[in-house]
Amino acid sequence: MKEIKDKARNKMTKCRACKECNGVVCAGETPGCGGKGNGSTFIRNVSMLKKVLLNMNVVADNTPVDCSADFFGTRVSLPVYVAPIGNIEANYGAKMSELEYTKALVDGCGKDSIVFSGDGANLDVLMEPLQAVSDGWIVPTIKPWQSDEMKRRIDMVKTSNCSVCCSDIDAAGLISLKKGTPAVEFKNEEHLKEIVDYAKIPVIFKGIMTKDAALSALHAGAAGIVVSNHGGRVLQDGLSTIEVLEEIVRAVDGRMKIFVDGGFRSGSDVFKALALGADGVLIGRPFSIAAIGDGQEGVRKYLNQLQDELKDTMMMCGCRKLSDIKRNCVTVQF
Ligand SMILES: Cc1cc2nc3c(=O)[nH]c(=O)nc-3n(C[C@H](O)[C@H](O)[C@H](O)COP(=O)(O)O)c2cc1C
Repeated sequence: MKEIKDKARNKMTKCRACKECNGVVCAGETPGCGGKGNGSTFIRNVSMLKKVLLNMNVVADNTPVDCSADFFGTRVSLPVYVAPIGNIEANYGAKMSELEYTKALVDGCGKDSIVFSGDGANLDVLMEPLQAVSDGWIVPTIKPWQSDEMKRRIDMVKTSNCSVCCSDIDAAGLISLKKGTPAVEFKNEEHLKEIVDYAKIPVIFKGIMTKDAALSALHAGAAGIVVSNHGGRVLQDGLSTIEVLEEIVRAVDGRMKIFVDGGFRSGSDVFKALALGADGVLIGRPFSIAAIGDGQEGVRKYLNQLQDELKDTMMMCGCRKLSDIKRNCVTVQF
């Protein structure tokens, strides 16, 4: 990854591709790739993961490790997905179109993982990545636009044969989008239900940080949620996602899929989320660096590294398949 970061640094003006992507140096850089305000929520996402420790257990047999997972009927090689990141040029200062960026991700992931794509006031941010859809699986992530615009964009993604869609409802907090045309808005449970009913394909709501919000998504008929604070880009001084995950998992009690993102960097980070009950993990900024730095090769290398690390962690903690990863595999120190 060092080589990929070196290459990426030469191709971007707004991200330093730090040795550890932890939100410290880029605090407040939005647009850019930092966290909002003092950057504390992004920083906390990364730092609280270090307070989940692995319980090593090597008294085990020698059967091979299988970390493959199911994503709404599609088999993936590991329960790690690419988080939606839009406006690559504006946020990274990289000369890469949304389509080039998404193609690097989709081709790099092949059939091993799935790419969530982003959205923006400019319709191209949503639609350009969908041209990569014939090459692979994409989950378009639509901003929480006011009702008519939301429906218009749902129609558009459905004509691109996407079979699952997502909405990052926490983008209602992005000031630039609140004031613009079209405008985003906050969604209550009724609005969420309207979206689910209109879409008629499985819908995932991203930006859930409390058990009440998770239950509203569940009651609205969501197929899944992403426990997410938008990588710390919509609220400063917020809790990290790993801190709220377990309570949400308990409240949902297996009735819909739970994904999580924010600060996950390695296969052992992914293991920690699975031990606390997540079905899968989305990773954002490191995949962007991989795609900008070395295109599909960079993405492939990073995905392989994540898989190797996850398998190694599973081995060392006595797990041979994902269902072996249980709460007692980790010790939480917060
Ligand atoms: C530059 C940038 C742009 C983003 N754009 C979007 C977007 O268009 N839609 C969305 O749902 N989330 C967006 N996100 C949030 C990511 O999907 C994800 O929640 C977050 O980056 C996860 O944290 P990580 O980058 O620390 O892994 C963006 C994040 C960054 C850093």
